[in-house]
Amino acid sequence: MLSQQETKREQWGSRIGFILACLGSAVGLGNVWRFSTTAGENGGGAFILVYLLIILFIGIPVVMAEFTIGRKSQSDAVGSFQKLAPGKPWFIAGFLGVAASFIILSFYGVVAGWVMKYFFGYLTGSLVNVPENDFTGYFVSFIGKTAEPIIWQFIFMALTVGIVVVGVKKGIEAANKVLMPLLGVLLIILAIYSLTLGGAKEGLTFLFSPDWSKLADPHLYLAALGQAFFSLSLGMGALITYGSYLSKENKLPTAALSVGALDTLVALTAGILIFPAVFAFGLDPAGGAGLVFMTLPNVFDQMPLGAVAGAAFFFLLFAAALTSAVSLLEVAVAYFMRKFSWGRKQAVLIIGSIIFVLGIPSSLSQGAVPITIMGKDFLTFMDELSGNVFLPLGGLIIALFIGWGWKKTDALRDSDLGDTLIGNIWIWCVRILAPVGILLIFLNKIGIVG
Ligand code: PFF
Repeated sequence: MLSQQETKREQWGSRIGFILACLGSAVGLGNVWRFSTTAGENGGGAFILVYLLIILFIGIPVVMAEFTIGRKSQSDAVGSFQKLAPGKPWFIAGFLGVAASFIILSFYGVVAGWVMKYFFGYLTGSLVNVPENDFTGYFVSFIGKTAEPIIWQFIFMALTVGIVVVGVKKGIEAANKVLMPLLGVLLIILAIYSLTLGGAKEGLTFLFSPDWSKLADPHLYLAALGQAFFSLSLGMGALITYGSYLSKENKLPTAALSVGALDTLVALTAGILIFPAVFAFGLDPAGGAGLVFMTLPNVFDQMPLGAVAGAAFFFLLFAAALTSAVSLLEVAVAYFMRKFSWGRKQAVLIIGSIIFVLGIPSSLSQGAVPITIMGKDFLTFMDELSGNVFLPLGGLIIALFIGWGWKKTDALRDSDLGDTLIGNIWIWCVRILAPVGILLIFLNKIGIVG
């Protein structure tokens, strides 16, 4: 007998709706804010080269793995493993994922709050008339405040909760359909404009011409791995959960490829927008978490209709962040609803509140109160812990689960790849390449190999 929840499991309205929701989850602050910070801190070109290889050989194959698990099990991040492999320890990956969703959304809400503040800054003009164009000072003084950033974080979390509570797949699907292409178009226009500002040569060289000596740094590989997982919403069951709302008729491989390719294109375009501006305005590419908030206002300041472009850009980034936040919350909500038979409303309100409170130290650590762990401010620590440890570890277990826990013929059939060349390459990636790659990057970082 199926339980009531299983018989009533929600489904996407259409295949394109599923792809857009996954894209909405993937494209977010990770592509613009985290990508530019991480690429900047790890030397640019060499980082990007490693990043692209990881997306292709580890990221996209694990996206396929998550989709396959979710659609097959029709269950949440933890339940999927328990249903497909009862009594085996694979479900630990699901718990890591639920934990990661709490950690990531806690600081994600803080940064998304900054984005909202900037959107309103352009609407009200406070970001247009910054004395002496000291945008660095503006940003540092804003995030150093105690209450204001927390209020923005609260508003953002309330909106996320509001969407997930209604469970409006239709709402999210429809909004994504309009907002994601708009963000893409605006990014391209701004990137072209940024290239005219005088820092184009330096910016593009930084991004696309690798300084090979950087490849000797073990941290670069871990940073690229963590960024790939973060950006693709991978390794924590978000795509298992989304895949579980998919019916059997839908084909997975093109969905996985589209999500992987488009997410990467958005990140690269954001890089082409941000780095020429970094050099044009004499900023430091390794400037850290505030890079986007300190460089982009300079671009908008120089542009005709800059305030309009600024408002549009931060609104779209906010929308992108919201659709990602929704998927982060949905991972935990789907699990708690099933496990404790909570209603959607109860689950969303309880989990949303806990995550909001968990985010407060991240916000305070940006200047108001010096909260540091292992020499990093609390926000950066939570970010790196989740992105560089939890997600790749979750991804490792997911790859092993499909690669070794499933019969090859089942995996090929359930992924829709079939016994084709691509199918066999995929099996090889999840069996060997992805697990070995992830392990080597971990071991290299702690100094055991390399
Ligand atoms: N992929 C999102 C971004 O790039 O902003 C962040 C994210 C969403 C990570 C959902 C993980 C996740 F499950």
